[in-house]
Amino acid sequence: MILNVLAVLAAVVFLVLGLLYLFILRTNGKQRKKPHIDTDFEPQRALNYPPPFPNGWFSLCSASAVQKGQVIEVTAFGKKLAVFRGHDGKVGVMDVYCPHLGANLADGKVVGNRLVCPFHAWEFNTQGNCEKIPYCDKENYNERTRAKAWTVNENWGLILVWHHANNEPPTWHTQGYLEELKVYKHHGSSSELLHMHLQDFSENGADYAHFGVVHNLLTIPLLNKFFHVEHTTNIEFGEGNEKHMAWFTDIADIARTKDKSIIKDAGGKALVTYYGPGFLVFSFKTKFGNPIIVKTFTPIGKLKLRMEDHVYAPKGSFGPAIKYIVGEATAQFHDDINIWERKTFNTNPVLVKGDGPIMNMRKWYSQFYGHNKQDSQNENTPHGSHLNQSNETPNEKNLSETTNRGDAHS
Ligand code: FES
Ligand SMILES: [Fe+2]
Repeated sequence: MILNVLAVLAAVVFLVLGLLYLFILRTNGKQRKKPHIDTDFEPQRALNYPPPFPNGWFSLCSASAVQKGQVIEVTAFGKKLAVFRGHDGKVGVMDVYCPHLGANLADGKVVGNRLVCPFHAWEFNTQGNCEKIPYCDKENYNERTRAKAWTVNENWGLILVWHHANNEPPTWHTQGYLEELKVYKHHGSSSELLHMHLQDFSENGADYAHFGVVHNLLTIPLLNKFFHVEHTTNIEFGEGNEKHMAWFTDIADIARTKDKSIIKDAGGKALVTYYGPGFLVFSFKTKFGNPIIVKTFTPIGKLKLRMEDHVYAPKGSFGPAIKYIVGEATAQFHDDINIWERKTFNTNPVLVKGDGPIMNMRKWYSQFYGHNKQDSQNENTPHGSHLNQSNETPNEKNLSETTNRGDAHS
């Protein structure tokens, strides 16, 4: 009984100190100290990485960023895109440059449910079909007068598009997942431009060995003298209808550095669900709150991507506690990002026992590149070698550390 009371007290002390640190020492939202990026060398650093634009669903922006009758310009996949919402509420996404004489459609306007080009006033519907040219009869409209429209899906409070190097249709969908977001409270969003390849985010979960090095410190400097974080990690890969998904679990315990004893209830558990290459969804389970972070990755160029965090929590959650938990997670991610923005990609890494199922992760991830010509031509990469790394490496032992998960996941 007394031990239980002491454990709860210790946990409360952690929360209080955490909140104090968050609100007093970091009141002005201390920014990540960004590493130096040698921009001249970036093309060289990019050479070993897989293609920059894997196939899948990606977020372009929050749904609320495009109101009825509005058009905005968004950069993604090495292109500029025009995202507009008709007065019927439906969203259209198209390549920003008009098929006629190349004006920027994001400088146009929405009339009814159509996007109107600012140059000669051609009118396009959300499917990209040209429906009106003020000075030319309809019988002259054809395939060539179409704008390139993207497959759009509005879900999870985001405007999503399907990207495929060969323009193949979606092989999976986002519907039926994260339904709780409809009733959870939105606790804010943030956006950051990063100089890295999005595959490194996914490999994070399979790289068990880095947790004890990169993620062992609390963000509260004073407490770091006496306590550290211990992680127990596991990753599973989907199969069948859910082969684009994976599930990573991290149990983060707070331990006394002196004797490594765990402080009960002071840590937490994070379940991270991968939805293809574009999303990692963090569900935290802690004594103080259970927030969800929908983390989106939108590649915009070689070693350039936009990361957005959208934070949700059940209604009635204690706001400062949600802020603290998300602040801790964000700090941990920044420690990773500082490494990812400076690293290269070893296509045949030297792995040893204890490294985690990194090659299995790469095998799983290779489904998002596909085996097509355009992948290797598209934006560079001389290789394709990243597709062939799976089975016969000296690292095969690592593969057995992983379990596969069938369709039964819910
Ligand atoms: S450039 Fe768009 S209508 Fe002419
Ligand atoms: Fe990490």
